[in-house]
Amino acid sequence: MLSIQRKLFPFWVILLLWSSSSLIMVESKCKKGCPLALASYYVWKNTTLTFIAQVMNTTEDAILSYNPVIPDKDRIQSFTRINVPFTCDCLNDGQFLGHFFHYQMIKGDTYGKVAGTYYSNLTTVNWIAKFNNFPIDNVPENTIINVPVNCSCGDSEIDKKYGLFLTYPLLPGDNLKSVAQETNATTNLLQRYNPNVNWNSGTGIVFIPAKDKDGQYPPISSRRKKMKKALLFGKAGGQQSGKIHGSSRKLGDSLNAGNIGVTVNKSVEFSFEELALATDNFSMANKIGSGGFGDVYYAELRGEKAAVKKMDMQATKEFLAEINVLTRVHHLNLVRLIGYCVEECLFLVYEYIENGNLSQHLRGSGRDPLPWSTRVQIALDSARGLEYIHEHTVPVYIHRDIKSANILIDKSFRAKVADFGLTKLTEVGNHSAPTRLVGTFGYMPPEYAQYGEVSPKVDVYAFGVVLYELISAKAAVVKQNVSGPDSKGLVGMFEVVLNQDDQNEVRKLVDPRLGDDYPLDSVYKLAQLANACTQENPHLRPSMRSVVVALMTLSSMTGEWDTGEIYGNHQLKAQRQQLI
Ligand SMILES: Nc1ncnc2c1ncn2[C@@H]1O[C@H](COP(=O)(O)OP(=O)(O)OP(=O)(O)O)[C@@H](O)[C@H]1O
Ligand SMILES: *[C@@H]1O[C@H](CO)[C@@H](O)[C@H](O)[C@H]1NC(C)=O
Ligand SMILES: *[C@@H]1O[C@H](CO)[C@@H](O)[C@H](O)[C@H]1NC(C)=O
Repeated sequence: MLSIQRKLFPFWVILLLWSSSSLIMVESKCKKGCPLALASYYVWKNTTLTFIAQVMNTTEDAILSYNPVIPDKDRIQSFTRINVPFTCDCLNDGQFLGHFFHYQMIKGDTYGKVAGTYYSNLTTVNWIAKFNNFPIDNVPENTIINVPVNCSCGDSEIDKKYGLFLTYPLLPGDNLKSVAQETNATTNLLQRYNPNVNWNSGTGIVFIPAKDKDGQYPPISSRRKKMKKALLFGKAGGQQSGKIHGSSRKLGDSLNAGNIGVTVNKSVEFSFEELALATDNFSMANKIGSGGFGDVYYAELRGEKAAVKKMDMQATKEFLAEINVLTRVHHLNLVRLIGYCVEECLFLVYEYIENGNLSQHLRGSGRDPLPWSTRVQIALDSARGLEYIHEHTVPVYIHRDIKSANILIDKSFRAKVADFGLTKLTEVGNHSAPTRLVGTFGYMPPEYAQYGEVSPKVDVYAFGVVLYELISAKAAVVKQNVSGPDSKGLVGMFEVVLNQDDQNEVRKLVDPRLGDDYPLDSVYKLAQLANACTQENPHLRPSMRSVVVALMTLSSMTGEWDTGEIYGNHQLKAQRQQLI
């Protein structure tokens, strides 16, 4: 699709189309989600809070905190509804607001049972089938399926006062009046938020304004509003320049992996003056890093923190087409590209991630050692980001520069993969760019270093090296001025201890800053996973999807956080999850 695009429209035509922004503009359903939505779960006979917490990937306590009326967690009332909190994510390239819960199928389970019983009609068989590619009537046992549940974050055009919503399945016997009574809402309010709903049908989902833990209706958060504005308005002072690419429809079509609705294509182009102002003229004080492409600066742009990457190259049309695609790839575990600037040189504007990169946490001075459970979580987060670009974006990406410096850590110690898509850009990009070996020594698999063979398995290998770093805190390139086993770096060092056939051997390589504060079993399993990822033969390395599954299991064993954290907060948009 992209290449046809390039042939049909010379660059100046695309530019021309950009500037007449009234052209094709197709609205997406969402830009971003919200941290909280509630599911109205109808408690069927004999179910328990434990079961509900389990299927809804959260904890009993989290549920209780939203249901002050439940007197005792061991006796929840059958045939009543309880509220279950979950995060509401903007899914499938902005096509709908929802959340993927994860459920492991057991013998005798069907999508019908999952939707109608376990998830209490919060979703439907067809909606589940859309995000799992098993035959509806034959899902293998033990498979973890994606269970989509729709949600709402409010609508500022209806009323900004309501920012928290209940996803409420209508059941036989419900009607507008009874629902209004049960949810303390007026019938008018219900109808405004749910036009064209047949309230007597006994099926389907409606969205109902809900109260927070403190008993208040939380308004639409101002942060979201600000973000929206920042995305829509390009230049300071509110002048509109969030350019809508004329080419958007074509590009958009190719991105429409799912078959639901439409996509929109709004990139933000920043002016050089604006970036200079926001970075204090690219001052040393604002510089937060430098990489193979150029320097990175901290910026305050329109009230939001951002990281501006200055690259010494000119943008080509291919570059811009790619940027266009990249700005629309949203995933919790990927650093988001907000926009760009093509004046003077090329600038990329990213969301700012507060807490440095993984390499700094493992080896930098003045940082507390990361506890083991955090390390496993970071592994899982970054694996999810990678899995996403390998399998769920259109086009798919191979990162090719996975390393601890490219894994950023946020305030709550969750990890996000930075810089994906950039290697691709240098390739299609212009020829005056300094040629550089794409990738970083110590993370490159043999087939790539020697023959330049590129496949997703290149990233899997580098990810394996990052896992070894998480265990040992050692740098991928172990500086030793000798040849011999250590010249193979971390991979070689671990191979030696893993070949000993004694779990305890691995202790020799564990980060000394962990002390004895780690479960050996978990460390050993992670080392084995890393070992599988760094096999010489790329075909023998697992896919990132399998790696995610393995890490999910490992992190649930490692404990210390609730399952809601593991499964709940991710937009694991695994549309075709086929598990090992
Ligand atoms: N979005 C961001 N938020 C906060 N810090 C960032 C962000 N992007 C980059 N940085 C910081 O700047 C450093 C350099 O980033 P950059 O991606 O340019 O280089 P790199 O990853 O070290 O090298 P390369 O460009 O070769 O991949 C990062 O390691 C990180 O510490
Ligand atoms: C789900 O909906 C079906 C059909 O309306 C109904 O028979 C079933 O009882 C509902 N399940 C729950 C748990 O409410
Ligand atoms: C969820 O929302 C999508 C998009 O609006 C819709 O097509 C789908 O039917 C909804 N699913 C359920 C179960 O309500």
